[in-house]
Amino acid sequence: MKAEAAIDLEKTTSLEERYQLATYKKMPIVAERGEGVWIYASNGDRYLDLYGGHAVAGTGHCHPHVVKAIREQTEKLLFYSNLVYSEARARAAQKLVSIAPSSLTKAFFCNSGTEANENAMRMARMATGRENIISFSGGFHGRTADAISATFLGKYREIGKPNVPGHLRAEFADIESVRAVADDSVAAVMLEPIQSMAGVRMAEPSFYRQVRELCDERGIVLIYDEVQTGVGRTGEWFFAGSEASDGIGPDIITLAKALGSGVPVGACLVTEKIAAHINENDLGTTFGGGMVAMAAVTATLEAIENDGLLENVRGVESYLRERLSEVEQVVNVRGRGFLLGLEFADKAKPVHEALLERRIITGTSSDAKVLRLLPPLCLKREEIDLFVEALTQTLRRE
Ligand SMILES: Cc1ncc(COP(=O)(O)O)c(C=O)c1O
Repeated sequence: MKAEAAIDLEKTTSLEERYQLATYKKMPIVAERGEGVWIYASNGDRYLDLYGGHAVAGTGHCHPHVVKAIREQTEKLLFYSNLVYSEARARAAQKLVSIAPSSLTKAFFCNSGTEANENAMRMARMATGRENIISFSGGFHGRTADAISATFLGKYREIGKPNVPGHLRAEFADIESVRAVADDSVAAVMLEPIQSMAGVRMAEPSFYRQVRELCDERGIVLIYDEVQTGVGRTGEWFFAGSEASDGIGPDIITLAKALGSGVPVGACLVTEKIAAHINENDLGTTFGGGMVAMAAVTATLEAIENDGLLENVRGVESYLRERLSEVEQVVNVRGRGFLLGLEFADKAKPVHEALLERRIITGTSSDAKVLRLLPPLCLKREEIDLFVEALTQTLRRE
């Protein structure tokens, strides 16, 4: 490492540590530039990014089509609120609805995943006149008051105390536990279809169908939190409607993360039936539907389409699974597409750290034995080879 670069690293880290609340354990990287699946640090090191900045970099870092669209929009109009019409917003809403399951016909734009979930729960309460929300052990829905109260994972509800009333817990993948609490006080069942933070947990397709049937039977709104699984991550636009979901979909999908390729944006996609209950001033947020975010959404969806990224995810996932079958310490590969959990017989954290030394960024989860991969959707086979080679060497060294 060059002397000058080392000083830069030290200065940046010490300034951040001094002036920013220490809410995240950071990796020793000063990220300066990104391109596709690569992050370049200020000292010149290059990292293979298999984490995508918390699953945000779906189109890869700085996809030229997305960057161009954002740049062009910033030169025209940075922002105006929903009090005016905007071509950027009209195009984004149309494009998003065009790729959504056909029953979801309207979009509401906000700024993050937690906000999308708050609004989804509110819409379900408005549509049903009921208060309670059922969510699942192991699900993560965000950190604002209502969303954290719906998060039955680890210490989150504890952090969010006092919790918002109106939340009921069911056990993931256990339909009887849902049935037991789904009475006529329940407005919605909110489901993270692949529980990422919990260690990439999925249910059998029949579970999603049974939840759908139960909701229909008892007049309950079904919400899929697709903040992580949406926008192509599973190799399909959404988990909703996929084979893994037994072809069924919810009444509301919530999105964020990869939707704007890094520009903060969240969304709810809803049915006509839900939309009919929402009136002027019922929902709102100043920045939701802002032009720069909207330009990013349209360009993100176009880039995924133009580059064939859904097909890429499916092909490369198969290749990765094949290559990982050679690695005996990986006892199971959970998940779908590029939301994968590599399960080890032992703790995953040392593997994460050893890979980082080899300049590969991965993620851990609340399951100590699971290493999470959430790479950009443009990841290729040759990068899988680099990863599997580094993983094999790392495990040999231990
Ligand atoms: C499934 C899921 N829902 C909601 C959220 C909250 O999103 P945000 O951090 O944008 O508020 C996250 C974030 O990790 C998530 O993974």
